[in-house]
Amino acid sequence: MKALTKEQIIEALNHDLVAEFSAIEMYGAHAEAIAEDAIVQGVRAILSVEKGHAQELAKRIEELGGEPARPGGAATVAGRAVGAAGAQASTIEMLKLELGEEQQAIKDYSAQVADIVDDDETTTLLEEHLHDEIEHARWLKAQIRALM
Ligand SMILES: [Fe+2]
Ligand SMILES: [Fe+2]
Repeated sequence: MKALTKEQIIEALNHDLVAEFSAIEMYGAHAEAIAEDAIVQGVRAILSVEKGHAQELAKRIEELGGEPARPGGAATVAGRAVGAAGAQASTIEMLKLELGEEQQAIKDYSAQVADIVDDDETTTLLEEHLHDEIEHARWLKAQIRALM
């Protein structure tokens, strides 16, 4: 049986937090760059959910006695790079970059939900995030199919 220690849970939550910061930067850049109004509205709706995820993760890390990562640190440079590259790309290429981030988030949250054994409050939070990321991925897949 696998069971994350409290330190490993804090580490995992900070990994998630940095990924959420990257997603926020990417969706923000793409919302500015995408021409289709209906898609921009959907991207902005996702962006707002990712901001909530980041706030909830930072709060939970503090409750567990950890130090939350800060936005704009070196760890989110990758997110800015993806955002900048995306801003030059076509809508479908931006949607594919976004789907890739969502696919990774689904895998990371799923693994953590599986491996946290004695912290139901954190598990419940991560289950909610997982559900949101699955919905984001579902919407992105439909947009990509419609553009292909
Ligand atoms: Fe998220
Ligand atoms: Fe998401």
